[in-house]
Amino acid sequence: MKKILVIGSVGQIGSELTLELRKIYGNDHVVAAGRKTKPSEKLLNSGPFEVVEVTDIDSIRSVVEKHNIDAIINMAAILSATGEENPSLAWNVNMNGLYNCLEVARKYEMKQVLVPSSIAVFGPETPRINTPQETILKPTTMYGVTKVSGELLGDYYVRRYGLDVRGLRYPGIISYETLPGGGTTDYAVAIYYDAVKYGKYTCFVKEDTRLPMMYMPDCLKATIDLMQADFANLKHHCDFNVGAMAFSVGEMVDSIRKFIPGFKIEYKPDHRQNIADSWPDSVDDTAARKEWGWEPKYDLDAMTEDMLTNIRKKLNV
Ligand code: SER
Repeated sequence: MKKILVIGSVGQIGSELTLELRKIYGNDHVVAAGRKTKPSEKLLNSGPFEVVEVTDIDSIRSVVEKHNIDAIINMAAILSATGEENPSLAWNVNMNGLYNCLEVARKYEMKQVLVPSSIAVFGPETPRINTPQETILKPTTMYGVTKVSGELLGDYYVRRYGLDVRGLRYPGIISYETLPGGGTTDYAVAIYYDAVKYGKYTCFVKEDTRLPMMYMPDCLKATIDLMQADFANLKHHCDFNVGAMAFSVGEMVDSIRKFIPGFKIEYKPDHRQNIADSWPDSVDDTAARKEWGWEPKYDLDAMTEDMLTNIRKKLNV
């Protein structure tokens, strides 16, 4: 049985992934860790919580020893937009944090490390449509630079030390439980909140901006399916493309109007437009489908309906 440490458990993906893993492996087998952000009651009440600073290797080590951890999921990261405001912070958290996780995992001979990557590994020179698994990786953001380096570093630990390291290139993740923070794809969550709260949204990227996206239930499924895949079947390790949906903001607006007919949208592109323009429209995820059976469930309208219903419940409107 694995005893998993989820670093970054207070974030958008970590908060839901931790609860899902607790359902599968048992509450005490999944230790949530975070920095200063206050964890939700759900997270605190359902199992152990520890403060870990991912850039401080000793803080990881002491929690690993205390709980006999044999697998680490490192969800702590500075995302693309914040990373451009503070590139050195992004490097420190994303690279030194990852290096610390891998080193602790190697020294304690852990069973597995999960290292998330992102569509941010791609750049303006990458083929944009149905972006292949093996392609040009020349990102223009510090976030992307750290994600390419993270994939290479993870693969290095597999080859050099035989450590089981896995990772997938998340597209923009859409969810209602915990807000994303500091990413370029944050508009795809904010649009639903503002649709419910105000019936209108001012979008920081243009109407025809099209990016690969995924709804949280598919994100959890992808992550857990990859974790549970037979290592012997994996030819790739830390860099799986995973597709689910790809749509423009205009198409999101059309989908929202099926449920909120009067929904209004305004476009005021800012610096994040350049980042969005450097990422693909859609990705080819044949490797993930073949090597560990990846298959997404949600399409745009199914997600829109579910998002709006759950945000209304959450906000009591
Ligand atoms: N959601 C991330 C971002 O926008 C991409 O991985 O930075």
